[in-house]
Amino acid sequence: MSLRPGQTPAISPLNDGESTNPSANTHIQDIIDARLSRRGVLKGGIAASTTALFSSLGLSACGGSGSDKDDALALSFDAVAKNKNDVVTVPAGYEVSILHALGDPLSLTDAAWANNGNESAESYNRRVGDGHDGMHYFGLSDAGAYSASRADRGLLCVNHEYVVGPNGLHPNGRTAGSARVASEVEKEIYAHGVSISEIKRNSSGNAMTLVRGSAFNRRVTSATPMAFSGPARGNALLQTKYSPDGTTTRGTNNNCGNGYTPWGTYLTCEENFTNVIGRATGDNAKRSAKEITGLNRYGMTDGRKSPYLWDTAGSDDLFVRWSASVTGASAAEDYRNTFNTFGWIVEIDPFTANSTPVKYTALGRFAHEGCWPCKAVAGKPVVFYMGDDSRNEYIYKFVSKALWDAADVGKGHTAGAKYMSEGTLYVAKFNSDGSGTWVELTHGKNGLTASNTTYPFADQADVLVHARLAGDVIGATKMDRPEWGAVNPMNGEVYMTLTNNSNRVSPTATPTGSQLKPDTANPRYYEDIKNGTTSQKGNPNGHIIRWREAGGDPAATTFAWDIYLFGAEATAAANVNLSGLTAVNDFSSPDGLWFDQNGMLWIQTDDGAYTDVTNCMMLAAVPGKVGDGSAATAAGGTPTIKGANATEATVRRFLVGPKDCEVTGIAMTPDRKTLFINVQHPGEEGSLTSPTSAWPASQTDATSTKRPRSATVVITRSNGGEIAV
Ligand code: FEO
Ligand code: CA
Ligand code: CA
Ligand code: CA
Repeated sequence: MSLRPGQTPAISPLNDGESTNPSANTHIQDIIDARLSRRGVLKGGIAASTTALFSSLGLSACGGSGSDKDDALALSFDAVAKNKNDVVTVPAGYEVSILHALGDPLSLTDAAWANNGNESAESYNRRVGDGHDGMHYFGLSDAGAYSASRADRGLLCVNHEYVVGPNGLHPNGRTAGSARVASEVEKEIYAHGVSISEIKRNSSGNAMTLVRGSAFNRRVTSATPMAFSGPARGNALLQTKYSPDGTTTRGTNNNCGNGYTPWGTYLTCEENFTNVIGRATGDNAKRSAKEITGLNRYGMTDGRKSPYLWDTAGSDDLFVRWSASVTGASAAEDYRNTFNTFGWIVEIDPFTANSTPVKYTALGRFAHEGCWPCKAVAGKPVVFYMGDDSRNEYIYKFVSKALWDAADVGKGHTAGAKYMSEGTLYVAKFNSDGSGTWVELTHGKNGLTASNTTYPFADQADVLVHARLAGDVIGATKMDRPEWGAVNPMNGEVYMTLTNNSNRVSPTATPTGSQLKPDTANPRYYEDIKNGTTSQKGNPNGHIIRWREAGGDPAATTFAWDIYLFGAEATAAANVNLSGLTAVNDFSSPDGLWFDQNGMLWIQTDDGAYTDVTNCMMLAAVPGKVGDGSAATAAGGTPTIKGANATEATVRRFLVGPKDCEVTGIAMTPDRKTLFINVQHPGEEGSLTSPTSAWPASQTDATSTKRPRSATVVITRSNGGEIAV
């Protein structure tokens, strides 16, 4: 979710692009670090320079085994035209149905959503939550266990990122005032989190529907009890009145992108958690200088009011816990540390209804977009890639200490504890020559010590709770808002969307505040002109970076990268539209990203720059490989390394969403015949009295005046075939 320029949301400004990174490490460092000069890249061309670079990294420039398989992939659908219609538009020969939307009951006992906001707060413990986002499909066997191959019956885990005000949840939107109404806050707390629902194929065709009343149906909310695991479990930084020993907490918030594990559990990722927590004015006087540094780096400044104002709804512990203010004699008597209990990767075992979700501290604390695994290989570590979605933040990876054993499939949190409690966290540096380095964030190494002058790290728990500060210390590369990542199952290359960045300034400007000059990995600076005036500046349309680990080993500490695709309007200047997009595939602000089983790449958008022309969309792509492109000079004059140009055969628009929405979250059955996508916040530019959308009702009834709702969409092919091929 991200705000349109100048938009003031009614309930939940997520500040997706918030920048709290004041550190001095810039990409100038990359230039100093370069092993190949820019001139070498530009003069010699990409072929010579990448061959030299790849051989220096021990790589083959033509990719690893199996990497040619994507050459056989072909997109078989007619591209969908950009449009502003209030429906999900799919190619000819495809069908759309709605699986579930905000407020739909998962149980048989609650009444259907009534289009009036009168559902009780309590009932949201059994209703589909708001703000559908990341999701994953798990096949479900007849015996009720995980089955990777089961296509006609499964569990769908869906993130409910935030409360989309003012449309769906309350009778008349959020009640105004500086103190919130308790019943409204309670409903919002239960409308966040994750839904788990059993789904099955219908008697004919490949569409799937919700099994109401299934014993697997479950809600995880912002009040669900959870356990901590890993180095920060039991640390003083996690002590609260709820858990004086710092081993447990309640709730997961602002669950954006997602992940999944090779052993069959769901990972939900806490992104804009800063928005649910407030802090009293004057609280700094009760804090140490070190604490203030930590709080400020994550945007929790003195006197900060949470946009949600959940902490204003009364004296019940359900509400008080959202204020990170010192009120008691010790951390065991108040919620001064509540802020530290969010910002984690959370594992949910969807197959065990009463299992307690686990927050894995070894994977670090930041605005987690998602958590994407490499293919698990017997005897090798399990590796996850992660991005911190705020302007100028970093890309991370986690390498497990335990080595993969396929016998752990189906072992739920027992396997989670084995692979995710212990391991090494790294942060990425992208060098200007197309090489990159993973730098270890381990206490005692790379300056992460108690004598560090940026922040005195007491121990590994302190490094993990303050991972952003650790990234600052080692000089990680500040990116244009890392959103989703995806690992190509055919060759192990990793892709990550960098959605946009309004903080990039011209290479000739003098940056102020959190502004940054472009660098080779975040190269573009330009102005988006609409109707003769500047609409947005910086990198309004975003790009997709990708990398190949040295030797094809996910645990390697060096890699080679290029920029796979630049978002742009087809009519933009050539140094903006660097990938040569046309009307068939032009897009802006990539966000969701996913490889299907065939190695086809799916790209989803959450955009505010091209929305004068089209609603947000999803594209399908046959991606190529690192090093298949050329050197280029981006708008603003910064050199970069780009992948092969897109063609209408390799990148094509598959879907356009309804009005004012974001298309985010994707899953597919293992037979590739049922595709799921989420539509978040349709109609967010409107209001209850002046709506701009009636989706999903408008999908089948163009005259509907029902309230717009976030929902999961099911897409199948009329001929029963596989999707998109
Ligand atoms: Fe919730 Fe980064 O999008
Ligand atoms: Ca976004
Ligand atoms: Ca434009
Ligand atoms: Ca997102």
